[in-house]
Amino acid sequence: MVHPLDDPETYRRLDPQDMAGLGARLPEMGEEIWQIAMRLRLPQVMESTTIIVLGMGGSGVGGDLLQALIGPSFPVPVIVVKDRHVPAFVGPQSLVFACSHSGNTEETIQAYTEAKQAGAPAIVITSGGVLGARAAEYGDPVVHLPGGLPPRAAVPYLFLPMVSALRRLTHMGELSMEWAGARDVLRALVGELDREVPAERNAAKRLAARLVGHIPAVYASSPSLAVAAYRWKCQFNENGKTLALWNTFPELNHNETVGWEDERIARQLAVVLLREPDEPDEVSRRVTVTREVVFRTAASVDEVLARGSTRLARLLSLVLVGDFTSVYLALLRGVDPTPVRPIEEVKRRLAG
Ligand code: F6R
Repeated sequence: MVHPLDDPETYRRLDPQDMAGLGARLPEMGEEIWQIAMRLRLPQVMESTTIIVLGMGGSGVGGDLLQALIGPSFPVPVIVVKDRHVPAFVGPQSLVFACSHSGNTEETIQAYTEAKQAGAPAIVITSGGVLGARAAEYGDPVVHLPGGLPPRAAVPYLFLPMVSALRRLTHMGELSMEWAGARDVLRALVGELDREVPAERNAAKRLAARLVGHIPAVYASSPSLAVAAYRWKCQFNENGKTLALWNTFPELNHNETVGWEDERIARQLAVVLLREPDEPDEVSRRVTVTREVVFRTAASVDEVLARGSTRLARLLSLVLVGDFTSVYLALLRGVDPTPVRPIEEVKRRLAG
């Protein structure tokens, strides 16, 4: 019998808006937006003391990725604001990125307006909406995104323009070189995980099959991969329509591991460990010991290794594997990955 994820009928029936195909386009979206971002007019920026990224949900995860990518080495802090207010220190010396795919997310619009009132230079990333109109009023540079995509499927569009702009503003040339390497890693991964690749050779399809009927618990082996674990959780929520846990070592050893003592619940959890190929011994030992002591009762324990040699490649490779896995999980659960009705319903009721 043909595996449901190898059967084109599954996609025709359950994925009419082609979320599986959008996942496969991630490297090409990245390439396209990288070229566009290189030509973006940049704002006049003084010596910045903070980088502030505004954005919610699928449009906010780009800020988390930026923080993970450059936070450890950048001379000024990167702060991600997922709220309607910016911190009081925001002012002319902050550089603000306001990200909203629709341009109509009330939190992002209000936070952007506050930042502008405080005198902050900004770059806006959007397909239009109220945010796009307001950016035009303020004369801020805008990265114009194509509309009609689920924001979470447009993550390169919302993330890479910030990397490109900071590279140009700070002359951090090495970030630019990283994209080409990341792109090649992502293209190779698409070749392994795309829907055309049969389940017997497709790691994302096989992983999704082990998650069906369980609650995924996605754990990053170190804080530098935490954003990937969070992205997996969000994609399981939005694409897979299922609850999921996420956390990161070593912090989870100081709290969440105790929650595993309730074996009735622990047996429902399917652990996915996000790891790097060259982890320090301290990290590997910690994960091994935790597997033995804590995850004994888990329904399953899987490990996914980041690919590539740069931080950008590693983060985006994990994002891509998670994106594919979440779509395959949705299809195996018999649900359409694209609609996010509860998000829309809450927005509608708050607006009305
Ligand atoms: C992702 C998604 C949400 C939105 C969020 C903010 O596909 O639907 O997470 O990204 O509600 O909306 P935008 O991105 O339009 O600012």
